[in-house]
Amino acid sequence: MRAVEIIAKKRDGHTLTREEIDFFVQGFTRGEIPDYQVSAWAMAVLIRGMNADETTALTLAMAHSGHMLDLTAIAPRVVDKHSSGGVGDKTSIVVAPLVSSLGLLVGKMSGRGLGFSGGTLDKLEAIPGFRADLTTHEFIAQLKEHGIVVSGQTHDLAPADGKLYALRDVTATVPALPLIASSIMCKKIAAGAHIILLDVKVGSGAFMKTEADAIALAETMVAIGRGAGRRVGAVISDMNQPLGFAVGNALEVIEAIETLKGRGPRDFTEHCLTVAAQLLLLADAARDETDAHKLARAALADGRALKKFGAWIAAQGGDARVVNDYSLLPRAAIVEDVPAPRAGYIAKINTEEIGLTGVMLGGGREKKGAPIDYEVGILVRHKIGAHVRRGEPLLTIHAKDHTTFAAAEDRLLAAYEFSETALEPPPLIHRIIK
Ligand code: URA
Repeated sequence: MRAVEIIAKKRDGHTLTREEIDFFVQGFTRGEIPDYQVSAWAMAVLIRGMNADETTALTLAMAHSGHMLDLTAIAPRVVDKHSSGGVGDKTSIVVAPLVSSLGLLVGKMSGRGLGFSGGTLDKLEAIPGFRADLTTHEFIAQLKEHGIVVSGQTHDLAPADGKLYALRDVTATVPALPLIASSIMCKKIAAGAHIILLDVKVGSGAFMKTEADAIALAETMVAIGRGAGRRVGAVISDMNQPLGFAVGNALEVIEAIETLKGRGPRDFTEHCLTVAAQLLLLADAARDETDAHKLARAALADGRALKKFGAWIAAQGGDARVVNDYSLLPRAAIVEDVPAPRAGYIAKINTEEIGLTGVMLGGGREKKGAPIDYEVGILVRHKIGAHVRRGEPLLTIHAKDHTTFAAAEDRLLAAYEFSETALEPPPLIHRIIK
């Protein structure tokens, strides 16, 4: 078998066999198939797609490209949640300690920023000292001791995805349903969680722009997970505007902590409570939907979730004093408002553009493995449906210098559309797949 033949076969729209997919995944995991061939193959998959059997074969090949963790010896029910990628999506930073404070064991393997979407690990690494690069041994030890662990892919867990993910980020091959589904599910399957809640984003700031595509992605991932013997549910949630107000690594950590203190943005808080409630239901830790919401709300309100957050961050080497002292987080040199160019109701926000502007400011990567600036980012000051007066602050930009500030300002203003008449904001949750 030759890599070039497999690339050509997919380029021409044919179906790859399981043997071909195994060969390709094993080849690039071992470094025998070079990055340029993997990139060409990813582009062929993006354009031609994959059927359900190919997607499952790709997922399992990537999951088996390294060690497969068996967490059953630690507990029969370890939970995990995963987002398909959005802008301002800091949900895991709130939901992981929230459900952990309610007794669920959280063993989560997360990703870094990808294209316009942010990554939980990049956000957490804005906290001084936080280690997202745990070894498998450390992952298990922390899960046993603290009941919560969030780590990046270790070299030995789903290494194929680590390589492919970094390449996709810089070759415009992210928004392909089979690549997203297999990337998310191979990590989930390899990391051993028994219960998985998928948060599939839909809208202008998501990889899936239409509800039909988001449902297809969710159903594909749920089927793969169930086929691998896991209990899986999915929430399809809106990404037609940033979640909450903050976009940018350190800024999002602050907003997540504020939410854990019960002072978070309404949409983001409700979203976290929905995701937490679905996890509690999947784990049989609540009687019904109402009970699950009540439990989650109580853990936020009485400070249990916040306390767990501090303990978790400290356990992974982070400076937990950030909980009460945001000045310990990196802060941008330039922090300036952008005034609304006109009066009116905010009608649309091109959220992908907001994410890309965050990357341009330095908060994401334009090249594989590049360093990022944790302190830069954007605060949207109003959400869709809000009325703004001309000249009042529409956004606040956190930039490292005036040149990037000016470029970001132009780009962000172009991402907004206004209307003379009042309009309904988009729904927060589009659908829940039980
Ligand atoms: N999250 C992942 O882990 N992989 C993707 O491809 C997209 C989002």
